[in-house]
Amino acid sequence: MANLKVSIGGVEFNNPVFVASGTFGYGNDVSELVDVNQLGAIITKSITFHPREGNPPPRIIETPSGMLNSIGLANIGVDQFIKEMIPYYASLETKVIVNIAGSSMEEYLNVLEKVEKVGENIYGYEINVSCPNVEKGGMEFGVNSLMTRNLTELLRKRTEKLLIVKLSPNVTDITDIAKGAKEGGADAISAINTVIGMSIDISSRKSNLATKFGGLSGPAIKPIGIANVHKLSSAIQIPVIGIGGITSAEDVVEYLLAGATAVQIGTANFRDPGIGVKIIAEVDAYCDSNGYYDMSELTGALVNDS
Ligand SMILES: Cc1cc2nc3c(=O)[nH]c(=O)nc-3n(C[C@H](O)[C@H](O)[C@H](O)COP(=O)(O)O)c2cc1C
Repeated sequence: MANLKVSIGGVEFNNPVFVASGTFGYGNDVSELVDVNQLGAIITKSITFHPREGNPPPRIIETPSGMLNSIGLANIGVDQFIKEMIPYYASLETKVIVNIAGSSMEEYLNVLEKVEKVGENIYGYEINVSCPNVEKGGMEFGVNSLMTRNLTELLRKRTEKLLIVKLSPNVTDITDIAKGAKEGGADAISAINTVIGMSIDISSRKSNLATKFGGLSGPAIKPIGIANVHKLSSAIQIPVIGIGGITSAEDVVEYLLAGATAVQIGTANFRDPGIGVKIIAEVDAYCDSNGYYDMSELTGALVNDS
């Protein structure tokens, strides 16, 4: 049995397989079907200050090897989240990370401050500066290195917990934004959020999504995720958490080789919410049959890296 433990910003996770924001609810929906305690971590769906209905339907459409969504950060808002979810997290052994979104710096800070006051069962925050599906939803921070730095710095002053900044691939140079986050005091970067996409119903000649554009996720974006993780891990000296199109242990290994310290599984949870737990066992088996004893032997171990 390999040592699957990984450490990010001083927090130790039992394994490198996490579930991605917005694809596993608040972590409680499937707890009767899946042993969520086996997961390396649960990242909650994005929490905003006020509850949000999200965008009008249709807001999900299947595409070849993936899906487009324009959910638009639908969530229960921070007060209800604290009331309903924090007590539940006390009963979990897995580590919970709260994903925060906002349309202004103030909103991010207010949400973090509220959770910080009551969240002793929370191990850290993932800051979503990368949602493509809302008019004002962080993307204006996530496309600007200086704004990302300033936001991260303000959040850093308010918490000693793990601070992860989640980046978008829909930018000119993702490493520039990541440097801003690192300078602002982020412990880690997670990447990628969804890739902007569109699909059209040729009979009605309408976009299949009410918002016209959406975010593409699933296996179709895995090579984009791998490339971005590799660029990030080569450019910055903080851990990178790889996201995008993971459906198997082999995909996890590919992300680790590209430079990821851990990974998150997103869209694949909709087909099988237990997939993360299965993949953990498969990663372990992969390590046994290939002679790896520790995850650190895989992270960044790409051989033709020049
Ligand atoms: C339906 C849906 C909802 C999502 N909601 C959020 C969200 O609230 N916050 C966030 O940071 N990312 C959100 N994401 C992005 C995922 O966390 C992940 O970054 C992306 O889907 C790529 O991973 P995947 O290809 O494994 O799905 C969402 C993705 C999907 C498909």
